[in-house]
Amino acid sequence: MTKITMLLIVLILAIFNLVNCEYQYETKLFKVPLDHFGYQRNESFNIRYLVNDSFWDIGSGPIFFYTGNEGQIETFAQHTGFMWDIASSYRAKLVFAEHRYYGHSMPFGNKSLDNEHVGYLTAAQALADYADLINYLQGDRLKPKYPVIAFGGSYGGMLSAYFRMKYPHLVTGAIAASAPVHMYPNMVPCEVFHRIVTSSFKIVNQKCVDNIRSSWSELRTFLGSQNNSDWLKNNWNLCAPTKNSTDVQSLVDYLQSMFETLAMVNYPFQSDFLMPLPAQPVRVACQYLSEKLNGTQLFAAIGKVVQVYANYTGKTDCVNYKNTDYGNLDASGWDYQACTEMIMPMCTTGVDDMFEASPWNFTKYAEDCHKKYNVYPRPDAARIEYGGDRIKAASNIVFSNGLLDPWAGGGILNSISSTVTAVVIIDAAHHLDLMAANAQDPESVKMARNIHRQNIDKWLREFRDEQSKRH
Ligand SMILES: *[C@@H]1O[C@H](CO)[C@@H](O)[C@H](O)[C@H]1NC(C)=O
Ligand SMILES: *[C@@H]1O[C@H](CO)[C@@H](O)[C@H](O)[C@H]1NC(C)=O
Ligand SMILES: *[C@@H]1O[C@H](CO)[C@@H](O)[C@H](O)[C@H]1NC(C)=O
Ligand SMILES: *[C@@H]1O[C@H](CO)[C@@H](O)[C@H](O)[C@H]1NC(C)=O
Ligand SMILES: *[C@@H]1O[C@H](CO)[C@@H](O)[C@H](O)[C@H]1NC(C)=O
Ligand SMILES: *[C@@H]1O[C@H](CO)[C@@H](O)[C@H](O)[C@H]1NC(C)=O
Ligand SMILES: *[C@@H]1O[C@H](CO)[C@@H](O)[C@H](O)[C@H]1NC(C)=O
Ligand SMILES: *[C@@H]1O[C@H](CO)[C@@H](O)[C@H](O)[C@H]1NC(C)=O
Repeated sequence: MTKITMLLIVLILAIFNLVNCEYQYETKLFKVPLDHFGYQRNESFNIRYLVNDSFWDIGSGPIFFYTGNEGQIETFAQHTGFMWDIASSYRAKLVFAEHRYYGHSMPFGNKSLDNEHVGYLTAAQALADYADLINYLQGDRLKPKYPVIAFGGSYGGMLSAYFRMKYPHLVTGAIAASAPVHMYPNMVPCEVFHRIVTSSFKIVNQKCVDNIRSSWSELRTFLGSQNNSDWLKNNWNLCAPTKNSTDVQSLVDYLQSMFETLAMVNYPFQSDFLMPLPAQPVRVACQYLSEKLNGTQLFAAIGKVVQVYANYTGKTDCVNYKNTDYGNLDASGWDYQACTEMIMPMCTTGVDDMFEASPWNFTKYAEDCHKKYNVYPRPDAARIEYGGDRIKAASNIVFSNGLLDPWAGGGILNSISSTVTAVVIIDAAHHLDLMAANAQDPESVKMARNIHRQNIDKWLREFRDEQSKRH
């Protein structure tokens, strides 16, 4: 649970920090039922959505609709530059809808995540919110006037695809970027994510991988003595030394999550993702690990990687490796989702990847979930509800994945039909294609964005053809 949770939260953190108020919009509220699927709870609450209609042709312009994922919606609005880049040429209205139980879309205020209130946090409820919102944006017309294109990245990409599958009458097509729709139990090997993380490092330098792989046991042995623990605290500027095995485990988890994140946000340009990072952060990290090292030399080198990761701006006082509470990111609901329907098994082998071996243990996972939320996960629920790899009946969805992105291991890399197609971006990390155009973009991501535009063109034409047939 913790690993995937951390990764997704890390991603939110990443996006959150990028917010530089580049894009402008109006913030609105929309009333939704607490429970779309039963009639006994009559309460309703407001979800937030952000709108920019400055580019919009109000006569018949499309609605570009971001299906918000696990975090405050500003984060995604600011980070999905592709939608902003193309809005004026399509004369589109931009809408970014906030996922219930995140950001300010809390049905029970700050008690929403309490066990007695959290039960209405599901992907299906969120999609039903989006459906109601679209109906409203269409003016509650029986024959919708505006074509709607859904966009989303990561879990938001899963939602955009599922939205088209479940509500094809409301949404004309979906761009699902870096959506790990195959990450569910028994669909892909649990080690695939970490295999890709490792290969991102291997591409730079095999010795880098060898050093990281040998560092875990060296580190655990080294930290057996208090003196060494103090040495490491001073050398890495840790906020506190490791005092016992719990602390050592926290440090190991922190480092593993660091390497995972560097792979995920391995963008060709300097970015403020997760934290400010240089262009090609994996390459930068591996500079320090390009010769086989051991002992304190190895730890000093990893300390330099920690500096890049935690202190690129030079403003971090100390490295708080025990902090798994990511501040006011509002992503804590993901932990509950990961304990109910979004089960994405993760493991490491230590052979195919550069991490310590750690098997996937569903029993343990379920026990932890029960302790925390008094719920048991239903490992097959999402596959059954959303189709797993049996989605031939769907249409008008693009699944894009960058091969540098560890999440691509759970993505759709081969087209399923002529209208459910895969776009593989050989040298892109996590949903780079949804970001604003950048001078450092590789050709492959420019091509991917062109394919997105061609598909959007086609879907809009289809909508208008159908519309004219009705008259
Ligand atoms: C929409 O975005 C454009 C371009 O960023 C900006 O000029 C405009 O003021 C925005 N409109 C609203 C309503 O925020
Ligand atoms: C149930 O909800 C509807 C719509 O929000 C409202 O008009 C009605 O008064 C509510 N009924 C009760 C008993 O709360
Ligand atoms: C929770 O919300 C209530 C009512 O809005 C407020 O009085 C309280 O201070 C909040 N608690 C926390 C921990 O934020
Ligand atoms: C630990 O460090 C202290 C002070 O630097 C020194 O006196 C002591 O011998 C060291 N102990 C070990 C086991 O290295
Ligand atoms: C481990 O040490 C930390 C302080 O570094 C302390 O807060 C924690 O309770 C200790 N855990 C155990 C299991 O002793
Ligand atoms: C580091 O490697 C060298 C050469 O392989 C070896 O002699 C030395 O004992 C190693 N040091 C540690 C701390 O493992
Ligand atoms: C971050 O960098 C600044 C400036 O180089 C330095 O003073 C500070 O100690 C560093 N923080 C950490 C955690 O290493
Ligand atoms: C999985 O976890 C359960 C519960 O913690 C434990 O009893 C079991 O031995 C574990 N299985 C394996 C293969 O480690």
